[in-house]
Amino acid sequence: MIGKSFVRGAAMLALPVLLGACNGDLWLTDMKQQPSVGTWQKFSSDSLGGDTIPFRGNPQGSVPTTGVAVASWQVSYGSGVFQIDSLAGVPNPIAADARSLEVGHKAYQINCAVCHGDLADGNGGLRQLNPAYGIAPSLITPMTGARTDGYIFGMMRNGRNLMPSFNRIPESVRWDIVNYLRGLQGRYPVKTGPVGFPGQTGAALLGASNVGPTVPSTYNKPSTAGITPKAEKAADGAAKEGKSGGHE
Ligand code: HEC
Repeated sequence: MIGKSFVRGAAMLALPVLLGACNGDLWLTDMKQQPSVGTWQKFSSDSLGGDTIPFRGNPQGSVPTTGVAVASWQVSYGSGVFQIDSLAGVPNPIAADARSLEVGHKAYQINCAVCHGDLADGNGGLRQLNPAYGIAPSLITPMTGARTDGYIFGMMRNGRNLMPSFNRIPESVRWDIVNYLRGLQGRYPVKTGPVGFPGQTGAALLGASNVGPTVPSTYNKPSTAGITPKAEKAADGAAKEGKSGGHE
């Protein structure tokens, strides 16, 4: 009767002993026993060329302690000085032709002028309203004039301190804004000032965008032709509600 169960029990007891007898290097990789490169030992990362066991790969997202292998902006939308500076080398792919300067003018007016001013001299609507709100610097100083296109693009992409990110502006339009800003800085002749009146929409402005608040809403009041004045009033009220709802 002892036969079978005794044999199994004995086998269970023997298992750890057997494992322990195996080559610890292969079975266990703890701090004490781990693949390592000994003094004068040739290191290889592919195990073919060298005589060491390659070490385990780095965890995803880790960066080498000896330096950053990729530019900071490639892994970050952070708004630190470091990220913006890392964008400085990114080349501007959009030629500053008439089309680009026109789109840049519109997009600058819509997104930047309130803070930086129509002429980018820092005298935006906010400062005119109350000097205490005049937080945005002039962008036509020699300092900003000397910045690279990539740096200015980076300010829009990531934002910095009190300047929010304008990453919602389509990428190509952000380059158009860079080109336009170069115009305000004196490199190209450009038109200045508002491109429309508040609330104006339609083809005369920037046109359709896949990112909402960048451009004036393409909302148009629905046609009320043929419906009674009462229904028209109701439709108008509903439309107004829908319109303001998006901005709250
Ligand atoms: C809410 C106000 C505000 C708006 C809108 C705004 N900015 Fe700014 N901008 C700032 C502030 C504040 C700073 C200073 C940030 C800092 O120094 O860290 C700044 C800094 C900058 C700088 C850096 C200048 C330099 O030489 O370092 C650039 C370039 C710039 N803005 C471009 C733009 C563009 C282009 C737009 C439109 C897409 C825009 N800004 C919209 C507030 C604004």
